[in-house]
Amino acid sequence: MLIDLEKAKDLLSLNEVVAIPTETVYGLAGKIDSESALKKIFSTKERPFFDPLIVHVSSIEMAKKYALKWSSTCEKLSQAFWPGPLTIIVEKNDKINPIITSGLDRVGLRMPDHLMALELIKSIGTPLAAPSANKFKKTSPTSASHVEDEFGSDFPIIDGGRTEFGIESTVAGVFEDRIEIYRPGVITRDEIQSVVDIPVKYKKSPVAPGQLEHHYMPNVPITITYEFETSKKSDYQDFFIWKLEDDPVFVARELYNNFRIAQENNHKGILLILDKNFHENEKWFGVLNRINKAKTYEI
Ligand code: TXA
Ligand code: MG
Repeated sequence: MLIDLEKAKDLLSLNEVVAIPTETVYGLAGKIDSESALKKIFSTKERPFFDPLIVHVSSIEMAKKYALKWSSTCEKLSQAFWPGPLTIIVEKNDKINPIITSGLDRVGLRMPDHLMALELIKSIGTPLAAPSANKFKKTSPTSASHVEDEFGSDFPIIDGGRTEFGIESTVAGVFEDRIEIYRPGVITRDEIQSVVDIPVKYKKSPVAPGQLEHHYMPNVPITITYEFETSKKSDYQDFFIWKLEDDPVFVARELYNNFRIAQENNHKGILLILDKNFHENEKWFGVLNRINKAKTYEI
């Protein structure tokens, strides 16, 4: 059910959850001060309680209210990249309900670059906790109709059009002496490094189960290959075959949409043809990370 901002505000005040557009993927949002809304986020997604939620704010001022300490690194990152697809993980204070962080002492904060989301958070005056608006481990939604596919046509959704970037935000743990990137995204390590003077490294998250091996999986198995001979095409009848264009921004935007098209059209499988050179270029890391977690086979 498509709803306007007023209606969304009403529902959120009644401790309900609604789907909201962001520049990355759609989020399943609830007010962070409503314990029942927070619980509804987990139950709607069928997400285990051990996987923490990101808190969405409409300003840097608002983010600061929930961090134990807002370091100069946090200030630099937020000034450089917010609103935008960067989630900053910092030590939380006691205004953050432990349900949000799955009991961890750090919280993910992000200011989305979408006018409707910003307007909504601003008008409520309270941040919104929001994971991607999909069932646990499944493909994130990049349009309102994708959210309907996940949660049904009665589910309240703010339609903000197709999302600009198409993959989830870069997730970065910020420490005094270093930054650790747990999930690659559109904002790259090099870009982050260019605004701070402490080292920035990719690292597997020690605590975030959202970083599970399998994730972002459509209901159709994905095979990836780096060398595809056209002569083999007959082996892939009824497959959705996609030779990725040499443009990471374009591919990221189309990625989940194409997974869903393959699913709807009852293809037997998805065959993604990649170029080895993608691995040399950091702009591809976000897309490669999602594809590797979504794939079933590699040949
Ligand atoms: O672009 C995005 O980030 C989207 C939009 C809706 O904002 N949200 C999103 O949320 O992708 P979600 O829940 O699907 O992914 C958040 C990731 C998960 O891998 C989670 O484990 C990690 O961030 N995360 C959240 N809080 C964390 C924390 N306190 N410590 C470590 N990892 C955390
Ligand atoms: Mg997700």
